[in-house]
Amino acid sequence: MSIATACANIALVKYWGKRDAVLNLPERGSLSLTLDALRTYTSVEKFSGNSDELIIDDQPQSGKALKRVTEFLDLVRAEAKTTERARVISKTTFPLAAGLASSASGFAALAVAAAAEYGLKLSAAELSALARRGSGSAARSIFGGLVRMDAGKKADGSDAVARPLFSREEYLQGVTFDQLAPFGAVIAVADAGAKEVGSTDGMEATKQTSPYHSAWLDQVDRDLAEAERLIRDGTFSELAEIVEGSCLAMHADAMAARPGIIYFKPVTLWAIDRVRELRKNFLHTMFTVDAGPHVVAFTVPEHMQKVAKALSEHPQIKQVITSRAGEGAHLIERMP
Ligand code: PMV
Repeated sequence: MSIATACANIALVKYWGKRDAVLNLPERGSLSLTLDALRTYTSVEKFSGNSDELIIDDQPQSGKALKRVTEFLDLVRAEAKTTERARVISKTTFPLAAGLASSASGFAALAVAAAAEYGLKLSAAELSALARRGSGSAARSIFGGLVRMDAGKKADGSDAVARPLFSREEYLQGVTFDQLAPFGAVIAVADAGAKEVGSTDGMEATKQTSPYHSAWLDQVDRDLAEAERLIRDGTFSELAEIVEGSCLAMHADAMAARPGIIYFKPVTLWAIDRVRELRKNFLHTMFTVDAGPHVVAFTVPEHMQKVAKALSEHPQIKQVITSRAGEGAHLIERMP
């Protein structure tokens, strides 16, 4: 049996649109922070059954969820030249679905555990490309801290992989995160059911029908360059402008699809407003929203508790999760 853990990540500069839907290749790059508190543990064990088995948080899965995992394992099996089935057991430390990035930690952990179980020796970049086949954002969860995903140009997707924003050399030269360590996040989980439009369908509909989509794509390139520059050499509020701008532009693009896709709920706007108010009152925080109603407020450890308290003050915020930056996906000895 092989066991791995991976943390989810939340994008500061968003990914919204695929250049190849089968290979899950993004149209543009993205930039994310891996988060320690949003974690998945996954074990993969080969066995002599006729089909794969999948258990998520103690619930045996069938249908769509199982099919997605079997298709993913088929990629690994093809590479390993075997047809042997596997039992996959997965546990998460945070609410699944509803736009909380669980596919990122889920497929990153599955990629690492399955590659090990089927005897594939893959580099981190190869693991990132493999995880991407499960979910675009999972490619980023192979790495810890701030992570840059490249869109790549190759048709086979081998260059559409993530990498840590800071190289090992930069860390050694003292990029300590004044540029990285200060970052954490408060995740304000809204009380709303499963999302109505999944990210894959949402992206495709936006790409096909939104009149704003080409403007969005141009903006991503500018935002990525600017965010990278500001993380190294800017102020928190300058970075906040780019990060919030990327989130709002992504949602504006989705809203402009026909029919429009609206992930926000009233409580989402309330939380966005609250984050901006906190920043005016000198707290380091900035918001982002994925394909769901929840608001993630990036912040610094010193301000985390105050931001968490402020965001919990709405009856429709059912849970507030605080998190430091997380580590990259890796093998572990046993399930916790
Ligand atoms: O990889 P997916 O299919 O979970 O898509 C992620 C899309 C967003 O979360 C909305 C943005 C992002 O960059 O993570």
